[in-house]
Amino acid sequence: MRHESILVIGGSGFIGSHIVAGLAASGRRVIVPTRRLVRARHLWVMPTVQVIETDVFEPQTMNRLLAKVDAVINLVGVLHSRPGRPWGPAFERAHVELPRRIVAACERQGVTRCLHMCALGADSQGPSMYLRSKAAGERIMLEAPGLQVTSFRPSVVFGPEDNFLNMFVKLQSLLPVLALGGLHAKFQPVYVGDLAQALINALDQSETYGKVYELTGPQVYSMKELLHLSGVYSGHPRPVIGLPDTLARIQAFFLEHLPGGPLMSRDNLDSMKSDNVASGQYPVPAGWRPTPLEAVAPDYLARR
Ligand SMILES: NC(=O)c1ccc[n+]([C@@H]2O[C@H](COP(=O)([O-])OP(=O)(O)OC[C@H]3O[C@@H](n4cnc5c(N)ncnc54)[C@H](OP(=O)(O)O)[C@@H]3O)[C@@H](O)[C@H]2O)c1
Repeated sequence: MRHESILVIGGSGFIGSHIVAGLAASGRRVIVPTRRLVRARHLWVMPTVQVIETDVFEPQTMNRLLAKVDAVINLVGVLHSRPGRPWGPAFERAHVELPRRIVAACERQGVTRCLHMCALGADSQGPSMYLRSKAAGERIMLEAPGLQVTSFRPSVVFGPEDNFLNMFVKLQSLLPVLALGGLHAKFQPVYVGDLAQALINALDQSETYGKVYELTGPQVYSMKELLHLSGVYSGHPRPVIGLPDTLARIQAFFLEHLPGGPLMSRDNLDSMKSDNVASGQYPVPAGWRPTPLEAVAPDYLARR
């Protein structure tokens, strides 16, 4: 069955914008709720995309949105929260409470198809609040009776608007030397275009129902290698010095309390205690041929 009208919650974000563009290009009707209309202005011009400023935590809103679609994609995620056990309040709201609300509303509105964005390394016993809360949200989705869910666990995602390599470039353009913790942490970065296509392909494939997929790129890099590459590609590589754990945590504490919002947190450092690489516990999508970082990143980082 081809799903023709899709609610993309979190569709205004970095990954969501690529998924929404792909769905629209395939002629589907897409609804994107956002808390701030202006944040999704790049989607306004797409003819089959309707952007609505609303609060998806409001039960009547969620009912109304789901009444108009035959599938839902949940991409909502946050990187920072105040501390808490087993995770902080912002993680609870975005990663756990929202999936619960989506499940309940889907049941009420008779929507049965759902794609869910989790994260590589999500684990109820994981080292960070982010990873533990992501695992809880995925479980709620997968265990929902009557819902046909496919969940995706990407490593860190790169692409022109990413908040990862671009942040490394920004730091290197501002500072003569970088002193950071977690330099030995491993990542297997995946290209946003590949990730978006994997979700769009899965939407109508019944063989993906109830499955979890790991989405990783072709190569593993340490954080230090990624810092170096982003410096080289953008034209201003800086020396990188590793900080011992205690100093890295003190640094992260200060970066958590920046006036414009956190740049990095102690919880982010905790996430890096486990390598962000394919575990092999979950399959990759059929025909998965990921784009190498070297094929895409030099171009967009050089333009910064
Ligand atoms: N980027 C990566 O490297 C990466 C790696 C692994 C997993 N993921 C997962 O992929 C998903 C998308 O990531 P992204 O990088 O595209 O994130 P993003 O650019 O920060 O976008 C996040 C989206 O979630 C929505 N959102 C956030 N908090 C919300 C809240 N409290 N209530 C309602 N909406 C909220 C935002 O909508 P508004 O328009 O309302 O702001 C936005 O559309 C997340 O679940 C993330 O955990 C990302």
